[in-house]
Amino acid sequence: MNVPNHVAIIMDGNGRWAQKRGLKRSMGHKEGSKTLEKLALHAIDMGVKILSVYAFSTDNFKRDKEEVDYLMDLVVKYFNTKFEKINKKGIKVVISGRKTNLRADVIDAINGIEEKTQNNTTGILNICLNYGGQEEIVDGAIKLAEDIKNGLDVSNFKREDFYKYMYHELPPIDLLIRTGGEKRVSNFMLYEMSYAEFYFTTTYFPDFDKSEFNKALFTYENRDRRFGGINDQKHN
Ligand code: IPE
Ligand code: IPE
Ligand code: MG
Repeated sequence: MNVPNHVAIIMDGNGRWAQKRGLKRSMGHKEGSKTLEKLALHAIDMGVKILSVYAFSTDNFKRDKEEVDYLMDLVVKYFNTKFEKINKKGIKVVISGRKTNLRADVIDAINGIEEKTQNNTTGILNICLNYGGQEEIVDGAIKLAEDIKNGLDVSNFKREDFYKYMYHELPPIDLLIRTGGEKRVSNFMLYEMSYAEFYFTTTYFPDFDKSEFNKALFTYENRDRRFGGINDQKHN
């Protein structure tokens, strides 16, 4: 099986999952976090090396304080106590996003989980929190400008070289999944998704289980990735 190296998921539909059941939106986030833990373990079993997930966008601060607080509490709880299986599996957890605007206990939890898992080598779980794709590019451009000011020669600077200025220097995304039915990227990993294959499903994230994930992998296997070139076997 041709397994994608880097899979990214826009975990959407938690609120609607809960509303459909007459529950508060926060119950959807709670259920979604359980789904994430299961999927992270499963993705590694399937041979995926890097899983990036969109947990909270810079624009999600537009939501009610109650919902934002609930999501942040969930992050603290998961990073501090619930990620033991992920750590045992050998998964390194990294967090992408801006630290500004985040509560002190959230920053402590981020530092804690990153430190605890830093030497793990089985795979990487990249959690995008207070994350924006345009923000990542802007932050990278500022870092590059500083290096140029300090004498970096950019006469041969290539697009591949810019990955070094992204939050964690992760490789390009091979497969991008969005649950919840919307067909947009909502400011997710814009630089990294340039040749990603897209997979959209109406399934709400809490219901996106192992078999749904496998369906996305099977679809990916049959995609004809050309990267701007021509695949001879299909055209002769
Ligand atoms: C995704 O689910 C999780 C976050 C954005 C934090 P939503 O909360 O966006 O759920 P819907 O799209 O309103 O159903
Ligand atoms: C994208 O979902 C962000 C996350 C999944 C964390 P949103 O629900 O915020 O995106 P829009 O508002 O539908 O574009
Ligand atoms: Mg949404």
